[in-house]
Amino acid sequence: MQFPSDEQDLISAQEWSLESISRVLDLAADMKANPRGYYDALDHKSICLYFFNPSLRTRNSFEVGINQLGGHGVFVDSKTSWLGQDSESVKDTASVLSRYFELIAVRMFPNVVDWVPERSNALLREFARWSRVPVINLEDDMFHPCQALADAFTMKEVAGRFKGKRVAVTWAYHPKPLPMAVPNSVLLLATRLGMDVTLARPEDGFDLPDGIMATARANAKQSGGKLTIATEMKDGCDGADFVYVKSWGSKAFYGDARGEKKLRMKYRGEDGTLWMLTPDKMAVAKPDAKFMHCLPVRRNIEVADAVIDDERRSIVYDEAENRLHVQKAVMKVLAGEGTKKAA
Ligand code: CP
Repeated sequence: MQFPSDEQDLISAQEWSLESISRVLDLAADMKANPRGYYDALDHKSICLYFFNPSLRTRNSFEVGINQLGGHGVFVDSKTSWLGQDSESVKDTASVLSRYFELIAVRMFPNVVDWVPERSNALLREFARWSRVPVINLEDDMFHPCQALADAFTMKEVAGRFKGKRVAVTWAYHPKPLPMAVPNSVLLLATRLGMDVTLARPEDGFDLPDGIMATARANAKQSGGKLTIATEMKDGCDGADFVYVKSWGSKAFYGDARGEKKLRMKYRGEDGTLWMLTPDKMAVAKPDAKFMHCLPVRRNIEVADAVIDDERRSIVYDEAENRLHVQKAVMKVLAGEGTKKAA
């Protein structure tokens, strides 16, 4: 997997320097504390929000964030656009939209069981190549950078620092195979920021892509962080400061929905709790450990109500709120400070 150094777009946070990531996190903190100081940060700029998939958090936090910065957001539904009907090319779509907008944000993730690895990421990169204006990835099949940046912001808000803090990123059973964009992105960013990261997933079939694992290992080596693997959810939670639950589909079964489902069912367990975060698993984390999830979540399938509704533990609504603050910072940096691509 190639990670170009590209700060004109936000395709993955791995492509941004640590300095730029720190700058966005600091700016987001100031925007959260002093929202009135940024009312004209987008100064009537127009932002395209182009969605090929459903969304609650991403769409609404972007629309509200754009309003709060004095910009204008236009929601484009792929079902009512020619590219979404395979009737216009990526080049023509991106070239035209970038004559209208100062920023284009795109959500384009595939149905996992039909998925060709990295295909929607490649399409998004092609889109960015033809766009004259910065492109923000709102989730493709590989990355969800706005989610990972908001998660990092949330962990720093709780812990004050990254180094020496332990995060368990753990697979959970889910009735449908989901994209790997979130675990890929969180793993890469947490290792880059020097955290002690444990990836917990079943012993067969649910590893993340080799290129992601290799990059995460290199990140940890460079940052002084750690990356370890656990094959039981409870082992992954042991001693964690943050337990981050997320389900994803098996890459061993691309194109084979029945085979994938059979494998996933094995890890549901007889009573459905084998790979569900329950209070007994959370109990082996640190006494003040926090529960995280990007949402939407299947309650009592991925996580028990007793964990997600535990106000001492659960920071999922802070995480969702922080999408707003971090994305405002990303938009200000990309659209508001003269980083527009050359025509
Ligand atoms: N976490 C996240 O991206 O949520 P939505 O799918 O609702 O946008």
